[in-house]
Amino acid sequence: MTQRFDNVAQEWDSGDTRQNIASAVFKTLTSRIALLNTMKILDFGAGTGLLSFKIAPMVRSVTGVDLSSGMLEQLESKNTSSLQVATILQDIMDKPLEQKFNGIVSSMAMHHVADTAGLFETFYAHLERDGFIAIADLEEEDGTFHAQHGNDGVHHFGFNTERLRNTIEKAGFRNVRFHDAYSVNREDGNYPIFLVTAVK
Ligand SMILES: C[S@@+](CC[C@H](N)C(=O)[O-])C[C@H]1O[C@@H](n2cnc3c(N)ncnc32)[C@H](O)[C@@H]1O
Repeated sequence: MTQRFDNVAQEWDSGDTRQNIASAVFKTLTSRIALLNTMKILDFGAGTGLLSFKIAPMVRSVTGVDLSSGMLEQLESKNTSSLQVATILQDIMDKPLEQKFNGIVSSMAMHHVADTAGLFETFYAHLERDGFIAIADLEEEDGTFHAQHGNDGVHHFGFNTERLRNTIEKAGFRNVRFHDAYSVNREDGNYPIFLVTAVK
């Protein structure tokens, strides 16, 4: 899994699709959640920081956590003296962080984690009181979304939103809401992406 992303890290930002997804997720997120300059935000599966760097100017800090050193190296190469995203190479489900956050964001990473219930329990444990989550991923699909690169390390072919709502509520979150964020429209199909928001 780590290898999968290390291999593609250098060309991750090329092409429009991933940039468009990150822009749409950011737009949907900021239309639903007021980001404040006092907030500490965790970007789960931050990759090269496509979402992190959009959020960073609006908040106190953004920390990108990921398992791929190659992806995080690309992220770090974008840090400047005026805008930085911190990075942590760690599996926070195995080894929780010592700090807590006001919000956890994520784009297109959740389908790479086998234990979805455990992931939301981990998010809950990493949030301050009243903290939020804003997590974007694919709606249920038939496995063709990743067909070009293979489905190694893809643990979910998108998500059934009603089942996911139950999982998120079981982890303790309230105000669980799904929003349409984007649709990747390709010759082999259309792949809607949701943003789910909830509060601790
Ligand atoms: C499809 S990429 C998305 C990257 C970025 N969020 C974006 O939108 O461009 C998924 C990322 O999640 C990371 N990832 C997968 N499983 C993870 C885990 N358990 N903990 C942290 N990161 C993980 C991968 O290494 C990869 O960088």
